[in-house]
Amino acid sequence: MKKQIRLAVNGFEYDLLVKPHWTLLQVLRDEIGHTGTKEGCGKGECGACTVIIDGEAVLACLTLAFQAQGKSILTIEGLVREGRLDSLQEAFVKHGAIQCGYCTPGMIMTSKAFLSKKPHPTEAEIKKALSGNLCRCTGYVKIIEAVRKASMTETGK
Ligand code: FES
Ligand code: FES
Repeated sequence: MKKQIRLAVNGFEYDLLVKPHWTLLQVLRDEIGHTGTKEGCGKGECGACTVIIDGEAVLACLTLAFQAQGKSILTIEGLVREGRLDSLQEAFVKHGAIQCGYCTPGMIMTSKAFLSKKPHPTEAEIKKALSGNLCRCTGYVKIIEAVRKASMTETGK
């Protein structure tokens, strides 16, 4: 049976009817229509579904929608401000860190949460932070470079 919940996503409140077992990933994509958050493995292994909840990078495929009530949820859609990409998004584009792009929203959200806590990381720290985000295309070099370059420009947004 569905129950009513309210989720705060990218600064907007959504009243939703959801089943208790529905994941946050399902609800973001299928009920709210935020398809920027991707489903890769669906079982916590690839990082494609990463969103930020109350400042922490969280796997939306392992989070029940119910668990996200009363919290501040940020998805890749929420990074664009007044039509401008976030500095991390710009860096991914500029440094060619995107191929098929399927892993990209998760990579960026993980990086965003990481840089908000560690604005000037070493390369080793970036690699460690992104170790839970898998990419089948890029070989990671350009992704690491993009995060490093973003950290050298602006990270606190
Ligand atoms: S879809 Fe969530 S970790 Fe792979
Ligand atoms: S760019 Fe294709 S999976 Fe990462």
